[in-house]
This record gives sequence, structure tokens and C-alpha cells, in this order.
Amino acid sequence: MTRLLGEIAAVGTDPGRGGYTRPVFSTAELDLRSWFIDQAERRSLGVETDRNGIIWAWWNPTDLPLHDAVVTGSHLDSVPGGGAFDGPLGVASALVAVDQLRQRDTTPQRPLGIAVFPEEEGSRFGLACLGSGLLTGAVSAERAARLTDVDGNTFADLAAGQGLDPAFLGRDDEMLRRIGRFVELHVEQGRGLVDLHRPVAIGASIVSHGRWRLSVTGQGNHAGTTLMSDRQDPMVAAAQIVVAVRDAALAEPDARATVGRLVAIPGGTNVIASRVDIGLDVRHPDDAVTAALVGRIADRAQEIATVEGCRATLTEESLSPTVHFDPTLRNELAATLPDAPILDTGAGHDAGVLAAHVPTAMLFVRNPTGISHSPAEHVEDRDAEAGAAALARVLERLLVI
Ligand code: GLV
Ligand code: MN
Ligand code: MN
Repeated sequence: MTRLLGEIAAVGTDPGRGGYTRPVFSTAELDLRSWFIDQAERRSLGVETDRNGIIWAWWNPTDLPLHDAVVTGSHLDSVPGGGAFDGPLGVASALVAVDQLRQRDTTPQRPLGIAVFPEEEGSRFGLACLGSGLLTGAVSAERAARLTDVDGNTFADLAAGQGLDPAFLGRDDEMLRRIGRFVELHVEQGRGLVDLHRPVAIGASIVSHGRWRLSVTGQGNHAGTTLMSDRQDPMVAAAQIVVAVRDAALAEPDARATVGRLVAIPGGTNVIASRVDIGLDVRHPDDAVTAALVGRIADRAQEIATVEGCRATLTEESLSPTVHFDPTLRNELAATLPDAPILDTGAGHDAGVLAAHVPTAMLFVRNPTGISHSPAEHVEDRDAEAGAAALARVLERLLVI
């Protein structure tokens, strides 16, 4: 694990933000995809990229039909200024698990697949889990094709640049039928394992989460000539809305609400903005509570905007309901890893999308800082090895029974 992760440690480093910036189809993410394909080929795995840009690597030593496979994997894209492990830990662990299964002379009764999903973070096109969403039909091809990055590139154009035909994006029943069960290993993104003094946990659920854009519109104007009393400044409204978001979440037990992005349009220091776009992320274990909380935030944003002579409009960008992983598969994992605690997570994953179609499970590996989506995310070498070994044991059990 240390050697594999070391090979990609310099890819996509971001000197400005710190950590890694590896948006989908950037040079950094493409380099990582090539690295994965090379690693898979060195292991003589059968590699293919499907029509949605998902890379699959198959270990199928006895040439069984590609059906009812055990699939593991994760993603290689990152948030801006993210950590080294969110995504790549699961991909590297999958490769190491194959090595370990071979060393043990495991004879699989079904194929093993490793999947690398594009745009898990939604940091380029705004829609998280885009690859798995396309595969399963949770995201329509038409919607995906129209998604645009900050530079105005559409997903369709960038996908075409990578040899994908935009006409063939979308739900892929043939690929879906190949997957019998899916297990994603991921760095833990909180403090659960640190507090329990354990290296590896089994996932129980992913809490409901979504993204909304709150656009606050005012009157763009000159910073020097516009009297303070004459302004309709959406930035002043946005500043209050950010605090209102925090307060609304504080008033709701177990809720999390975040403004991680604020875009002033046109964005000049001597310009009163005409519009501010607020990127809002809201999460709660109960889907109804998430919806109600977003409703309260929207109402409060409108009140604040009105007082400032502005207008606020809310647009839903994505919404994922709470996912409880398959209890039978979870019990299989628990029988294989009896010391592993069972944890819920507030983070989204491709496993959450696949869970609507196939029995799905997750493993989490201890992160001693408890911090993620930040350069401070960390995994100790011995925990990375423990995670890969745990994944290998789980896969072995699922492959032979
Ligand atoms: C993905 O990491 C998310 O939870 O937003
Ligand atoms: Mn991730
Ligand atoms: Mn992430």
C-alpha cells in the first residue's frame, strides 16, 4: 500500500491550496487513470473503460462468465485541495487485495472486478457520483451531457475528448448485471475509529445529503459612487445567509449544513456584486428533516434578501436519500472481521448509489486526524495495510461462497 500510494503522491499536488486538486478529466486525474490501468495490466487483469467513463479491471482466472461478480473500487478524482486518501485508498487497496488473493492461491467461484468511478466528488461538474449515477440511471444521460464546469466546458465535450461517445452515456444494464455485490473501502472522514481505537470499520449507512444553489440577486454598482443607503448588495445578504445556515443547522439535532462556496458575480473588489451564488450542502439521517431544514433555510434567506433589497432563489442540484447498506452482506463482513465496529457516515460515496441496485457494503480505514476534504486527511501506513488485508479477507469470503 505504501509503495502504491507513493507512486501517485506527486500527482495533482496543489501548491496554492495545499493537498491535491484532481478534478475529473484534468491532467492529474487522467494521469491517475493511466496509472491504474498500468497497475491493472501489470497484474494481467482484463481492463476496459465503459461508455460512462468507468474503468473496470477484472480478475477472472478461470474465465467464468462476467456475471454475479464481486466488485470493489472507488474513485481517483478529488475535491479542490483535498487529501491523498479520499478515493485512491480504495483503489490501491483493491489492487493489493488482488495480490493477496493470488498469494493465497484463492480459486474464485465468480469474477472479481475493480471499478474506478469518474467525478465522485462533483467538484468539476457539480453533481457528485456522476459515473455511478450514469451507470445506474440515477442521473440521465441528457442531464449529464449538459453539465458545465466553471470554464464553460460541457461534460459531453470533455467526455468526447476522452473517447467517450456522448450518445452512449447513461444507464448500462449489461454492466449492472455483471455486479453481484459491491464493497467500497474508503478512508474514514470523521473520528469514529480514532475514538474506538480500531483500524477498520464496517459501514452501516450514509446519511441523506444534497446540494443546493442559493442565488441572491441585487443591483451591481460602483463601490465608490453608490451611497451606503442606496445599495442592494447581494454580498451583504449572502454574509447574513451564511450565518443563518449555521444557526438553522445548530437548531436541528444531528443536522449538518455548510456553505463551502460563495461566488460573487461579476467579482471585482471595487464592484458591488449583481449576484452572489451560495453553494449549500445539507445533511441529516432523516430525509424528511433534511427537506424541512432546507425549506427553513430558503425562507430565512428570502427574508434576509428582502431586507437588503435583494431576491433569493433556491435551486436543488442533487439529493441523495439516506442509504442503509444490505444487512445480509454487512453480516458477512462482520463474520469475516469480528473486531470491526459498525459505523454510519455523513459522507457520500458511489457505494450509496450502487446500493439501490445490488447488495452493497463499505469498509472504513482509520484517519488519525479525523479530518477529510482537506490536506490534513491522513492514514498511517500500518492502517492502510490493515485496510487492504481486511478487504482481501472480505473479498475472499465473497468470492468462494
Ligand atoms: C463526498 O465526499 C461528499 O460526501 O460530499
Ligand atoms: Mn470519496
Ligand atoms: Mn470526498
